[in-house]
Amino acid sequence: MTEEVVKGRDVTIRFDASRCVHSRNCVLGHPEVYVPNVKGEWIHPDAASAETVMHTALSCPSGAIRVSRNDGSATSDTPPVVNTVRIRENGPLAFEAELSIRGEAQASPRATLCRCGQSKNKPFCDGAHAAAGFTASGEPAAKEFTALEVRNGPVNIQPQPNGSLMVTGNLEVVSGTGRTVNKVTKAFLCRCGQSQNKPYCDGSHKAAGFQAD
Ligand code: SF4
Ligand code: FES
Repeated sequence: MTEEVVKGRDVTIRFDASRCVHSRNCVLGHPEVYVPNVKGEWIHPDAASAETVMHTALSCPSGAIRVSRNDGSATSDTPPVVNTVRIRENGPLAFEAELSIRGEAQASPRATLCRCGQSKNKPFCDGAHAAAGFTASGEPAAKEFTALEVRNGPVNIQPQPNGSLMVTGNLEVVSGTGRTVNKVTKAFLCRCGQSQNKPYCDGSHKAAGFQAD
């Protein structure tokens, strides 16, 4: 992890460049806090209210930005009340849950994972889908589903060797426009980019010769 830590008067911002997928929510939403295209320090925690800076972390889909109040009263690392994975049009899978990846608890409840197969930082998205011209709907058809008894709790993501992402835990699958298209306690999600049944794996990774740890 290459984490930058900037402590302000009321809040501390942590930035992990290896997680950033350049969605630019930070620099577009609050350029006074996250100043784009400057040499030297670009993160300024005191340039907005503590509430605003806390909110900036919640709008960072990758978990690259994390914010905590210096008095310990709040942190953006609090897991959500409803676990979700959002299907990004032509882009990654954006999870929000109490996450473990390969059994390792994650500091942030937000993570964007590669689903085009091209990331050099698998299982995380590194933005490679754009240069690769990856096309995949963010609006998959809804499956038949039943309500989950519990909507939060731990979610473990176990990348399968040369195959899908096995996801276990209570999880709502949500389209880019916010439609819930499935509710699962276990799923195999495509990460090779080749499935004809995205976001789910259909076994196409084998014929495609997909290789990943
Ligand atoms: S992923 Fe987070 S840190 Fe990176 S550009 Fe988007 S909002 Fe900013
Ligand atoms: S991982 Fe893409 S089809 Fe299985």
